[in-house]
Amino acid sequence: MNTNLTKKISLQSLRLTFRFILPLVAALALLAFAIVPVVEKLIFYWFIRDMDVQSKFITGTIQEPIVELLQKGNATKINSLLMNAIKEERLYALGYCNREGKLVYRTKNFPRHLGCKLPGSDAGKPQSLLHLPQGPVHVAINSVEQYGNPAGSLVILQDMSFVERRSDDTKKYVVALFVVIAVVISVITVFIAHISWRGWMDGMRALLRGEGLIRPFSQPTTSELQPLVGDLRTLLRTFETERRFADDVTVSWTPEALRDLLRKQLAGERILVVSNREPYIHRRGKAGIEVNRPASGLVTAIEPVMRACSGIWIAHGSGSADRETVDRNDLVPVPPDHPEYTLRRIWLTKEEEIGYYYGFANEGLWPLCHIAHVRPIFRSNDWKHYVEINRRFAEAVVRESSTDDPVVLVQDYHFALLPKMIRKALPKATVITFWHIPWPNPESFGICPWREELLLGMLGSTILGFHTRLHCNNFLATVDRYLETRIEYESSTIHNRGKLTLVESYPISIQWPSPLHQKLPPPEVCRAEVQRSHGFDEEMMIGVGVDRLDYTKGILERLRAVERLLEIHPEMIGRFTFIQIAAPSRSSLEDYQSLDNQVRALATRINERFSTYSYQPICLKLEHHEPEVVNSYYRAADVCMVTSLHDGMNLVAKEFVAAREDEQGVLVLSQFTGAAQELHEALIVNPYHIEQTADALYRALTMPDYEQKERMRSMRSLVRDFNVYRWAGRMLIDASRIRQREKLAGRIGERYEG
Ligand code: F6P
Repeated sequence: MNTNLTKKISLQSLRLTFRFILPLVAALALLAFAIVPVVEKLIFYWFIRDMDVQSKFITGTIQEPIVELLQKGNATKINSLLMNAIKEERLYALGYCNREGKLVYRTKNFPRHLGCKLPGSDAGKPQSLLHLPQGPVHVAINSVEQYGNPAGSLVILQDMSFVERRSDDTKKYVVALFVVIAVVISVITVFIAHISWRGWMDGMRALLRGEGLIRPFSQPTTSELQPLVGDLRTLLRTFETERRFADDVTVSWTPEALRDLLRKQLAGERILVVSNREPYIHRRGKAGIEVNRPASGLVTAIEPVMRACSGIWIAHGSGSADRETVDRNDLVPVPPDHPEYTLRRIWLTKEEEIGYYYGFANEGLWPLCHIAHVRPIFRSNDWKHYVEINRRFAEAVVRESSTDDPVVLVQDYHFALLPKMIRKALPKATVITFWHIPWPNPESFGICPWREELLLGMLGSTILGFHTRLHCNNFLATVDRYLETRIEYESSTIHNRGKLTLVESYPISIQWPSPLHQKLPPPEVCRAEVQRSHGFDEEMMIGVGVDRLDYTKGILERLRAVERLLEIHPEMIGRFTFIQIAAPSRSSLEDYQSLDNQVRALATRINERFSTYSYQPICLKLEHHEPEVVNSYYRAADVCMVTSLHDGMNLVAKEFVAAREDEQGVLVLSQFTGAAQELHEALIVNPYHIEQTADALYRALTMPDYEQKERMRSMRSLVRDFNVYRWAGRMLIDASRIRQREKLAGRIGERYEG
């Protein structure tokens, strides 16, 4: 335990305690001083009353003998009667006055000046008190009667000095009592303050960890903090929002900014990325070993981040020459021509790949998460492989991690179980999971036989990212439906068995500026080249679609829209060609083979309908194209069609926008993509509505240049500002914030645990 910290906290605790006790003691002292005179007066009046009663008793006792002696006229005996009476300790003097009010008998010490009237009677205010040099005396004058008739009066003087003595004693007792009360209250206060301080610190720790943000108000452990939880929560959130906003507006997101962020906020942490698809695939080709870049939005997004941050990317080695190109630790530096980070390859047997990748991931989870009307298939054997491969990747993460608290970026639906496995092996790791595809509603997700296991696996993440808020909300609702956890919708956090997961939207993006910007010729040159290579004349308008050949991409709907365009606007026949680039994907699966057949058949049918000897409206290019080639098509096109039936984001839309430095070209974009939430200047369509899509296509082909410019300029500025560095940066900033909070909470914890 840090002793300095302990001392500081104890001092703080003492200071706080004294801040309360000193005013308390002062208040009690004031009270004591105010109350003593009141108590004194009260006691005094009690004694006066007591003496009045006493003097009546004395009168009653000596009334009879004195009347008898008066009748006998025996003055000596009367004097001796009075002298005997004052032997009583407190009786100071006695006097007898006759009926005429004349003092006729008195004891020796009876003050001569007193006579038969109460002191002060001349002044109109008779007093029962008389101050003599010996001290104060109480004076009472009681009438003496004979057979019911007044016979004179008895003047009784009682010593009152004992009253003063008693009053002094009482004062001492009252002050002592207040001192005792003050000490008792102080001890209780110190004790309660100490316990409360502990409670506060525990509560604050929980709050800093984020637990306080989601603990229901009835939870006893933070009871001391309960009245303030709301305020603290608001304060923290405001602070975080402001900080996030400040980061967003002040940081211009570049590779350097990202590197800087890692250096400053994550102490230069090397990040670990895990994905199924590898960024570079080595294949044995005719000319020896070739390197391919896969058609993958995930790779497009993560690759520039890894180049900026370095670190290790763990992925499935799927290329035919992958094993030949790694070292004995299965590592290969990439990019091959200018290495900036390390690729760690994981090997799968054919059977494992079929079960984990083709089976559970792509026949199960892929159709489960996309609303594309393809039924998911779940097999126990596929699940077994999925669990096993997740475990293998988790082991690789542990092996490649150089610290016990690495930052791990887990990518996509292939690794739903991985976060929990990493957390088990490395409890201090910061696991950021990004789900690149949509998340369905609870009912749809509920058909998965292993739904609970998948959800629990994902909740091992520190941060769980989706492209849109809608997907985050679907996820929260799914967890709410199937797991026993505490969810706080306001802060979008899930608390599961002492672990907190932040569910947040991070819309993915692309590199800006595009690395191809310098490499590729300007758009007009690309256009001329595409026209030349396809044998188009100069006036030919070009539409492009770029996808993996996947049933979620709406390729059939797109081709039908082209067909409809040519039906409604026959003037476009011979003037417009649509080029569909589609990289074969998951081709061993039946649904993908069937899609391939359908696309080819539809394109053939449309071409047969509208072709002339020198023209065909649809050009299918169903093969892999390297990014440079794809980009030159973007630059050459008048319109780019993205008509996904359901898509997490769709980076083709953003790549097209980024490629158009001439600010020309129109984007037709499905409303069912995440990109449609950001690129409002695209022509947004419902791809299921063929006429509407055909109309949008016509509008795009006839859109004036100035309108194209305005729309494209606005979309370009959005993609520039909200680029992939910002996507990664926002996640890493959130991660560093959570790490700092956990470290701070850990340090506060040491005070009590150490
Ligand atoms: O869309 C989800 C995703 O993982 C993308 O990130 C990527 O574009 C695509 O699927 C890759 O699919 P596969 O790796 O199966 O070819």
